[in-house]
Amino acid sequence: MVLFYIIYIKKKSYLCTPNRMIDQETIQRIMDASRIEEVIGDFVSLKKRGANHIGCCPFHNEKTPSFYVSPSKGIFKCFGCGEAGDVVAFLKKHEHFNYPEALRYLAQKYNIEIHEEEQTEEQKERQNERDALFHVSEFAQKYFADLLYNDEMGRAVGLSYFHSRGLSDEVIKNFGLGYCLDEWSNFTDHARRSGYSDAVLEKTGLTIFKEDTHKSYDRFRGRVMFPIYSISGRVLGFSGRVLSSEKQAAKYVNSPDSDIYNKSRTLYGLYQARSAIAKANKCYLVEGNIDVISMHQSGVENTVASCGTSLTTEQIRLIKRYTPNVTVLYDGDSAGIKAALRAVNLLFAEGMHVRVVLFPDGEDPDSYAQKYGSTQLQDYLATHEDNFVMFKTRVLLDDVKDDPIRKAELVKETVNTIALVPDLLERTEYISQCAHLLNVPEEALTNELAKAINQNRLKSYEQQQPQENPNTQNPQNTQNTQIIQNTQTPPSPPTPPSPQPSLLVQAPAAERHLVQLLLNYGDQTLTQSVPADDGTTQEISFTVAQVIVSDLQADELSFSDPLCQKIYTYYCDTLARGDAPDASRFITADDEALRSFAISLMLDTFRISDTWRAKQIFVSTLEDNLQADLTETLLSFKLGCVNARIADNARRFGSVKDDDDLMLLLNEKKQLVELRRQIGMALHRVID
Ligand code: CTP
Ligand code: MN
Repeated sequence: MVLFYIIYIKKKSYLCTPNRMIDQETIQRIMDASRIEEVIGDFVSLKKRGANHIGCCPFHNEKTPSFYVSPSKGIFKCFGCGEAGDVVAFLKKHEHFNYPEALRYLAQKYNIEIHEEEQTEEQKERQNERDALFHVSEFAQKYFADLLYNDEMGRAVGLSYFHSRGLSDEVIKNFGLGYCLDEWSNFTDHARRSGYSDAVLEKTGLTIFKEDTHKSYDRFRGRVMFPIYSISGRVLGFSGRVLSSEKQAAKYVNSPDSDIYNKSRTLYGLYQARSAIAKANKCYLVEGNIDVISMHQSGVENTVASCGTSLTTEQIRLIKRYTPNVTVLYDGDSAGIKAALRAVNLLFAEGMHVRVVLFPDGEDPDSYAQKYGSTQLQDYLATHEDNFVMFKTRVLLDDVKDDPIRKAELVKETVNTIALVPDLLERTEYISQCAHLLNVPEEALTNELAKAINQNRLKSYEQQQPQENPNTQNPQNTQNTQIIQNTQTPPSPPTPPSPQPSLLVQAPAAERHLVQLLLNYGDQTLTQSVPADDGTTQEISFTVAQVIVSDLQADELSFSDPLCQKIYTYYCDTLARGDAPDASRFITADDEALRSFAISLMLDTFRISDTWRAKQIFVSTLEDNLQADLTETLLSFKLGCVNARIADNARRFGSVKDDDDLMLLLNEKKQLVELRRQIGMALHRVID
C-alpha cells in the first residue's frame, strides 16, 4: 500500500511538473465554470428529459439511450455499462486525458486563463509518449499553417493552390490547412531545433528515417496539408496532397497509424462538423477531404469523410454518437457507386438510417459546390436524396438487364441487405419498394427475407456462443427458473413492489410472444438449476421449446388464438415424438393465414430485444436475455389465463342456484385472486 502510494506520487509529479501545476484557485474557477451538459454535449447528442439530459452512451455500443447527465448534480451515469463520474472523469475516459489535460481542456473551452511557463527542453523529453506525439503533431500543424500565410513559397504555392480550388481564408483557417515546403528536411530541422526528438518525429511519421543511408527527410515535403483532428480538436495526424500532376507521386500521403492516430477510428472533418451533425440530426458522408471542406464552405457543415479508408464500423459508431441518419454522397461514376454500395451493409448493420445522393456523372460534391454555388448545392441535396435500397436496386438492375439468373442473384443480394435493417417497419417498406421495382411478388421477397434474417441470427448466435460460460449462472435467473418450474407457490418477497401495470404483457400479446419465442428461439438451449431429490440443485439443459411446452402442459393451459394454438400443437406433437421441431416449415406452409402469421412473427425478432432494452434488462448474453424474457412471458401468459378464469368466475355468480354453489364460486374466486397476486408478484420481480 505504501509502495503503491509512492509510485503514485512519483507518477503524478512526472506528468505534472511543478511549473506546469495549476493552482487550487484556478481549478476551482474551472470547475465552477464548467457545465457538464455542455462539455458532454460536444461529444454526445443529448436531449433534455425532465431535470436530466439523456443520450446514447459513448462508452459502449447502444441503440436506445441509457446515458444520463444531471446538470444540477454535475454528474453523468450510464445505466447500460455503469460508467459514471463528473466532468473531469468524463474527459479522462473519453479523451484519454490525464487530470491536468482535462483541466486545460475545460479552461480553454470556458476562456479561463492558466498561467503556465514555457517548457524546458528537459521537461519535453520527460513527457509521456502520447503526450509527446500530441505535442509534436500540434506543433507541426501550427508550423504548416503558418507557412501558408507567412512564407513566400507557402503563399505562392500552397495558399494559391487552395485559392485556386475555391477555398476561402476563413475555411482554410477553420480546417487548419497548411503547406510543407518542398525541401528535404525543412520541417524536421525546425522540429529538432525546437527540441523534438527523432523518436517522436519517426513515430508520428512526420519524418522518414532511411536506415541504409542514415538520412532523414520530411514525409510531406512539397504537399498541402490537411490536419486530422480528434473530436475534441487535438491534431492526430495529417493527409498531404501533392500539387504537381506528376504521375509518379501518390496523390495523397497520410500519417501512419501511431499511438495517437488510427485511421479506421477517425473521420475527417468530424471535429468541425460534430455540432452541425447533432443539430441537423443528419450526417453527410463524402469521399474526399476537399469535398468535406467545400461542403462546409457552402453551408453544409454536417459533412465528414472516412480518412482514405473504406468505411469502418468504428467510424460509423463515431457518427452514431451524434445521429442515426447518414446520407452517403458519391460521384456518379462506377467507382463512386461501388464505394457507396460497400458502405451500405456496414451502415445498416449498425442500425443507421441510410440515404444516398448520387451526383451527375463526372461531378463530386466539391466540383458541384464550386460550379453551382451553395444554394444550388443545398437544393440538389434536398431533392436528390433516395433511400439506399432503392438506389442499390436501381443501380444493380441496370447491370442485370433481362438475364433471369443475374436477376435472381440481385433479388437475393438486395434482400440480404434489407435483412440487416433492424427496424421492422423500415424493412417492410423496403420490401414493398423492391418488389415494385424488381417486379417480383412481395411475398416471395418476404420469404427470402425471413430466411436471410434467420441466417444472420444464426451467425450472431455462433459469434456469441464461445463467450458464454455454461458454469456461471446468474443468481437472479436461477431464481426465475424456479418460478417457471413452480408458478403455483412462488416464494413471497419481504416487501411487495408497487404494481406497474404498463409493464405487464397482456394475454393476447403474451400468446404471440410465446409463439414468437418458439419459432425464433425454440431450439436455443438454456441451462437451468432445478432442485434435486437430495436437496441439492442440479444443472439441466432444456431447449426453449421444451421449457414452454412442459410448463404449459403441466398447468394444462392452451392458447385462445387458433393460429397460436396450431403452432403450439405442432411443437407439442413433435417433441412428444422425440423429434426436433423445425420453424422453417411454417415459411412454406400451405395454410396461407398460418404461413403469413408465422412469417410476421419471425420477422419481428428485433422487437424482442427492444422489449428487453425498454425494460432495462441489460444482461450480457443471449441465454440470459432469453431466460429473463421466457420467464416473464410465461408468467404473463399465465396471468392472462387466470384473468380470463376470474372473469368467467364473475359471470357465473349471476346464475348461482344455492348456497353450496355460491360457496364453491367464492372459494374458486379466492384461489384465483391469490394465484393472480402471486403471479403478479413473481412478474414484478422479473421485471424489476
Ligand atoms: N486518398 C488517399 N490516398 C490516395 C488517394 C486518395 O488517402 N492515394 C483518400 C484521401 O483522403 C482523399 C480521398 O481518398 O481525400 C478521396 O480521394 P480523391 O477523390 O481522389 O481525392 P479528393 O480529396 O477529392 O482530391 P481532389 O478533389 O483534390 O482530386
Ligand atoms: Mn475531389
